Amino acid sequence: MKKIIIDTDPGIDDALAICYALSHPQLQVLALTCVYGNVATSLATDNALRLCELCDSSALVATGASQPLTITPHPVADFVHGSNGFGNVTLPEASRTPESLSAAELIVKLIDENPGEITLVAVGPLTNIALALELSPGITQKVASVVIMGGTFHREGNVSPYAEANIWNDPHAAKLVFNADWPLIVHGLDVTRQITFSREYLDHIAAEKPVPGTFLRNAAEFYIEFYNSRDSINGCCPHDHLALAYVTHPEWFTLESGELDVITDGEQTGRTLLTQNTASSTQAIKQIATDVDSEKILEDYTDILTANHR
Ligand code: BDR
Ligand code: CA
Repeated sequence: MKKIIIDTDPGIDDALAICYALSHPQLQVLALTCVYGNVATSLATDNALRLCELCDSSALVATGASQPLTITPHPVADFVHGSNGFGNVTLPEASRTPESLSAAELIVKLIDENPGEITLVAVGPLTNIALALELSPGITQKVASVVIMGGTFHREGNVSPYAEANIWNDPHAAKLVFNADWPLIVHGLDVTRQITFSREYLDHIAAEKPVPGTFLRNAAEFYIEFYNSRDSINGCCPHDHLALAYVTHPEWFTLESGELDVITDGEQTGRTLLTQNTASSTQAIKQIATDVDSEKILEDYTDILTANHR
């Protein structure tokens, strides 16, 4: 079993990724730590709790930062994810409340308690991760790796010609996280735009496994309509899922390594850069994903969501 923490802003593609992780027999999700982005942090936290209930999971849930480190917050993405973050589809209220520790505190605590074992998967703006680093810089040496959905290196951005939403929402946090000395693998739009979940694909999952499939299919309708009107795609890009798929199947991805950086002001704010590696051999490796086996991803997602693993 791989131990993971998912830092997230649920969010429809976050929900698709979280349900995969919570259904996966080889993943132990220790915590969902929540951040603003697709919705406000309080709603992201409530959504994470509801997803745990849906998937019958006892993963810890903690609430995190409610705004970026430095910049004025951007508006939430209700035109992409609906005003409740789930395409205006309602899940029953959760019976649990969040942990008393903040997201950053919980991240540090769990990494300290499980040295070398935790993969930190971040699929929202990187504020909580930057705050965890500030709280305890030593976590860089104790985490197994950090896997991020964010940025774009060889493709256009999705919130500006240069930037992807998660990085654009807190470019200063992203810069801190990119520059920390820990093994980092970044899944940007370069790979996440290679996969589409169509209506028919999600219909099939819902028919095979109504829980959580029906919720995911219904929530995704809003997201699919957004993609359809903006990009004329019949389906949606499950961005956040790519980070989870990498954790379970790194062999399906092509990676490039180098130095990572983020532009934090001006017209290109949020632009992510990969430059030639000048790091010493003792420094942790930074990689980006450039290609992915999309057939394998689609097959695996269906298998995990429809099997009776748990
Ligand atoms: C990223 O931004 C959010 O809208 C999605 O949940 C994903 O994490 C894609 O750019
Ligand atoms: Ca997200």
